[in-house]
Amino acid sequence: VNVTYVAASGSRQTVAGNVGESVMQTALNSGVDGIIGECGGSMACATCHCFVDEAWTDKTGTRMDGEEDLLDCAAVEMQDTSRLSCQIRLTPDLDGLVVHLPESQT
Ligand code: FES
Repeated sequence: VNVTYVAASGSRQTVAGNVGESVMQTALNSGVDGIIGECGGSMACATCHCFVDEAWTDKTGTRMDGEEDLLDCAAVEMQDTSRLSCQIRLTPDLDGLVVHLPESQT
């Protein structure tokens, strides 16, 4: 399934990810800049902050328990569409997903 990462500068990068992997892992696997994922996806760092494109928020669903608290500590202020990308698992339904990256993760 393809995921497009849009950097704060506006540059877009589309990469192929595997079903079952997270949006964070997919970025790391493909060398996408702008996602760090320091804690390895255990919801402890907030360096995987992303903004889900408005067209996709229905499909990515709602935040996990505890996600919001961590997003509160993210380097760039959270918005309604903010998610921890390690908590979004790729499913076939998410093919074409677009996420926007914050200017900074630290
Ligand atoms: Fe640390 Fe997502 S990778 S919270």
